[in-house]
Amino acid sequence: MSQDFSDQVALVTGAGRGIGRGCAEALASRGARVIAVARSASDIEELARRFPDRVEAWQLDATGDEILERIDAADGLSILVNNAGGNRPQAFVDVDEEALDFMLSLNVRAAFRISQAAVRVMTRQSISGSIVHLSSQMGHVGSPNRTVYCMTKHAIEGLTKAMAVELAPSGIRVNAVAPTFVETPLTKPMLDDPEFKEFVMNRIPLKRLASIGDVVDAVMYLASSDAGMITGHSLLVDGGWTAQ
Ligand SMILES: NC(=O)c1ccc[n+]([C@@H]2O[C@H](COP(=O)([O-])OP(=O)(O)OC[C@H]3O[C@@H](n4cnc5c(N)ncnc54)[C@H](OP(=O)(O)O)[C@@H]3O)[C@@H](O)[C@H]2O)c1
Repeated sequence: MSQDFSDQVALVTGAGRGIGRGCAEALASRGARVIAVARSASDIEELARRFPDRVEAWQLDATGDEILERIDAADGLSILVNNAGGNRPQAFVDVDEEALDFMLSLNVRAAFRISQAAVRVMTRQSISGSIVHLSSQMGHVGSPNRTVYCMTKHAIEGLTKAMAVELAPSGIRVNAVAPTFVETPLTKPMLDDPEFKEFVMNRIPLKRLASIGDVVDAVMYLASSDAGMITGHSLLVDGGWTAQ
């Protein structure tokens, strides 16, 4: 891929590890100035050391208020990768309020509020920005022990479409990337269970997990001007899981 993001400012939430880390590295490698957000300072500081002129580390909780204030003061923000998210798999009847609130707060409420803050900056500064939400194949289908996660990712799919329609006149594109299972710190404990891994592999026609690179490529495409006519779309990176 040849996208050049020079002179662009990109904010990536959950940039310390996993998919967000891959997105932050790819954006910085292709010239963007990246604001990397995570709660663990060590992960994002290490990233900032690798790209000293390009990455600024914001040690912040995506669910808090401070990130909104920092975004409001950001200059030139043109890309938002709304990536921070989590899962606590539980059987539907066993879902406890802590898990319910955790996922609603991070996967939906924080994603909404951060988008809102970013869009205010883009419209105020007349920037034709691009927003990419990290959804999931679970935003398209259901799966056992994932009622809350599926609910939150379906919410992100709805948010993507509604934002896309409303913000198109401002030149702001809004899309989602919907991966199947990728081995990251989030999913490693799940995939370490051989029975669960077999369940997953049996449902992916391409017979492999997605790599972080597979997902990053999709995010970079949607963030870039190559996808200039694409808005309100959810790009499945699922090896065919949802095609069945
Ligand atoms: N991995 C998969 O198989 C998969 C599949 C489909 C969709 N997704 C989605 O892709 C996104 C990233 O997943 P991942 O697997 O890369 O996750 P991950 O490995 O758990 O990494 C999450 C990153 O987000 C940060 N983070 C978590 N909570 C945060 C908070 N409250 N505020 C700020 N940063 C926070 C973490 O750092 P700190 O803990 O230091 O804050 C970490 O850097 C999520 O939205 C997930 O739902 C993942």
